Amino acid sequence: MSQDRAIRTVPAMAAMKEAGQPITMLTAYDASFARLVDEADVDCVLVGDSLGNVIQGRDSTLPVTVEHMVYHVEAVSRGLTHPLLIADLPFMSYHDRASAMQAAAAVMRAGAGMVKLEGGSGVVPLVAELVAQGVPVCGHLGLTPQHVHRLGGYRVQGRDEALARALQEDARALEAAGAGMLVMECVPSALARAIAENLRIPVIGIGAGVDVDGQVLVIYDVLGISPGRRPRFVRNFMDEAGSIPAALAAFVEAVRERRFPDDQYSYS
Ligand code: KIV
Repeated sequence: MSQDRAIRTVPAMAAMKEAGQPITMLTAYDASFARLVDEADVDCVLVGDSLGNVIQGRDSTLPVTVEHMVYHVEAVSRGLTHPLLIADLPFMSYHDRASAMQAAAAVMRAGAGMVKLEGGSGVVPLVAELVAQGVPVCGHLGLTPQHVHRLGGYRVQGRDEALARALQEDARALEAAGAGMLVMECVPSALARAIAENLRIPVIGIGAGVDVDGQVLVIYDVLGISPGRRPRFVRNFMDEAGSIPAALAAFVEAVRERRFPDDQYSYS
């Protein structure tokens, strides 16, 4: 790893897309893992509301609150020097303008450099307002875990033509509203590729194939310690690596060399 690493910023992520350099992102929830992820030279660290699953042992992300997020963002920010720190806005914390502003202010004050929120056309006005207030926003489309009850489970999204078209329109609308990045979760690789090609902002995939601008995984999945059934897009990098730093380095290298995810970890 180079000693003169650059501090990662939102414009730097756009420049990486422009230059065709894959972006690496991992979740972290505490200072110790944040330090390890930082040392692995990961570009972005996401304090995901997946902490509801992997930290709190819940069966969804819905019970996570802004207070939980603030606690974990503060911890993670103490472990980071270089990566861009992104924080999820949790379920129902952005149901209206005032709550969205308060939730975003709380996680940004805790140390985040960008917030992530789930949804398409319904959140577009909020995205524009947050951006106008100086809050960089990452969208999240496809399988949106905060909508699990509406979606009827954790399923691949966008296999039918109507939903595929809606996802493409939502992605364009989020970019037009000022979103600086977009996470696409559990969508067919060809659809994710088409969306990434049509946007200037980086599209980060999780179960979205290799032809997007970067990859994100939950760190406990990378290390093979997440409880329960493992989704298809999860690769346990610990199996072959033997140590946590080696597993994180293997993830970073596989993403940068576009070796991960291959078809085995993607959807058609
Ligand atoms: O909460 C989370 O960890 C996420 C990732 C799975 C993208 O949103």
